[in-house]
Formats: sequence, C-alpha cells, structure tokens
Amino acid sequence: MNTDFANDVIEGLSSKKKHLSSKYFYDDIGSRIFQEIMNMPEYYLTDSEFEILSLQAKQIIAAVNFDTPFNIVELGAGDGFKTFKLLEYLVNNEIEFHYVPVDISQGAMDSLTKKLKEKLPNLSIHPRVGDYFEILSKENVQTDIPSLLLFLGGNIGNYPEKEAVNLLQLFNDNMKKGDALLLGVDVKKNPIIVQNAYLDKHGITKRFNLNLLLRINKEFDGDFKVDDFDFYCHYDPISGDVKSYIVSLRNQKVALKKLDVMVDFKYDELIWTELSKKYSLEEIDVLAVQSNFKVVNHFLDCKHYFTDTLLIK
Ligand SMILES: C[S@@+](CC[C@H](N)C(=O)[O-])C[C@H]1O[C@@H](n2cnc3c(N)ncnc32)[C@H](O)[C@@H]1O
Repeated sequence: MNTDFANDVIEGLSSKKKHLSSKYFYDDIGSRIFQEIMNMPEYYLTDSEFEILSLQAKQIIAAVNFDTPFNIVELGAGDGFKTFKLLEYLVNNEIEFHYVPVDISQGAMDSLTKKLKEKLPNLSIHPRVGDYFEILSKENVQTDIPSLLLFLGGNIGNYPEKEAVNLLQLFNDNMKKGDALLLGVDVKKNPIIVQNAYLDKHGITKRFNLNLLLRINKEFDGDFKVDDFDFYCHYDPISGDVKSYIVSLRNQKVALKKLDVMVDFKYDELIWTELSKKYSLEEIDVLAVQSNFKVVNHFLDCKHYFTDTLLIK
C-alpha cells in the first residue's frame, strides 16, 4: 500500500475542512485525463508555454549561458509535450546535455521515455520515477556539471505562497552556484479567461477531479459513488487563487475498507482538491528574492498569459 497516500487520505478526509492533495490526481488514468485537459482550447496554459518554448528556446539557452555538457533536470515532467521543443532545439544544434525527467507517475515517465527515444534518438535521457522532494534531497541528481532545473506548466501555482517559497528554496538548496531554474508561472489576466480554463464546459476537469475518488476506491477498497459528487471551482482575481472542490450531492457515508475508515459527508460538503495560483510579474520577482534567486528574464508568450521565468542561483 502507498502509505503516504493512505495517511494523507485519512488526514484529509477526517479534517473539519476536507481536503486531498492534487499530487494524487496523477495515477495513470489521471495523467491521461490531464493530457485531455491540456488539449482543450480553453486551457491556454499549454498553448502559451508551448509558444514560449517553441519560439524562444534559442534565447532561453543563450540567457542560461552554460558551458557544455550540462544537465536539464525536469521536475514533474508529465508528458514533456512542451519541453520537447527545448530538447529538439538543443539536439538539432548539437549542444551537449543530459536530460533527467523526474515524475511521480511511472506511466507518464514510461511513455515520455519511449516517445523521446523515437523522436530524438540522440538524446541522452536518464528518467527518475518518484517524488521530486525526495529525489532532490536524497538522490544525487546534481553533478559537477551545470544544471538547468525545469519546473514548468504552472506547477508552482499548486502550492500556497509560503509553501511555494519553501519549495523554491528547496530547489535552491540543491543547486550549485550558477545553476539555473526555468519556472513556469501562470500570469494574472482577465478573470473570465482563467475561469473558463478551469470550469470547462466539456466536463474534463470534473472527470479529472472525480478520478481521484475512483483512485481511492481502487487503492483502499472504497465505495465512493462518483455520481453522488460534483465539481466546482472559483477564481479570485485579487489573490490569484483558483480553488477546485469536489462537492457531496447528498448526506452519505463512504467506507474505505483497507484503511478501516468510514467517512461522513454532509449535503453540499466540499473536499478542497487543488490550488492553481496566478501571479503578477512583480509578485514573481518577490517570490524569487524570498527564495534567494536572481531573476534573469521573464520569457512571455505573445498574449502575456504565461511566463517561463529564468532564475539563477
Ligand atoms: C500539472 S502536471 C504538469 C506536467 C508538465 N510539467 C507540463 O507542464 O505539462 C504535473 C506533473 O507533476 C507530477 N507531480 C506532481 N507532484 C509531484 C511530486 N511531488 N513529485 C514528482 N512529480 C510530481 C505529476 O505526476 C504530473 O505529471
């Protein structure tokens, strides 16, 4: 049994304000549903970051300005769809580097490795499956050669601001002087655009959230009935917080037999599942200072919806 997941489920569902961590969305089915989310036209984050990495790979690598060879360590690599453009630029220009994708999802890592081996046969790739917190602090992903860490897709927005600073500081602690971090951040914008990306009319984000209940059923012999739950999310344009929730549609009891737990849900009770925080460029500058990085540049897409911000230690 995955004990971290078990402990977090017990703690989260027995709290007064129920919550589950979004990192558990990504079992193999969840990773596939997330790819569907990324393909929705409303989910501007993918197109914006894809544009940045397609059109500005050369400028990003010039700004990094490393001697070769160097490492590219990608934290939470997922399907690597956007990173591919950066890797392709480097391979096509015969710039010597090693790619180390890290992800908690074995399925995501297997399909990424297979795809990259086919598309970029000359790529030096060293995948790691596991929690990036543990891999960063326990394993030696860093070597003598310079490293560029990638934390893309707006993942940083999944952490409340204080935890985001702690996470960036953890990255910083595991970097050598002169190493760089390319940080994907979703930028504050017209709230309707943000709201439509998360409360999508296709119901894919709802399916993504409810899959977490199905995952709990599978792993802990639970009896969640997904039709008795709904999905809601809300964007607050002042704080920049998108908060996502699962909503109980009736008073109900759910048994998690393997955990020996019975969870009571009241009518309309919420489980908070995800934070997706948006930042202004000035707020990103503050995050960087608080975690002891220097901002080299904000690489923005043409609509200024998203930034891949280059930070240096
Ligand atoms: C929102 S997706 C983004 C994927 C990719 N970076 C992108 O921009 O498309 C988050 C990815 O991070 C992985 N992930 C989430 N939490 C993680 C953790 N603590 N350690 C390792 N991987 C994690 C998930 O499995 C998922 O593939």
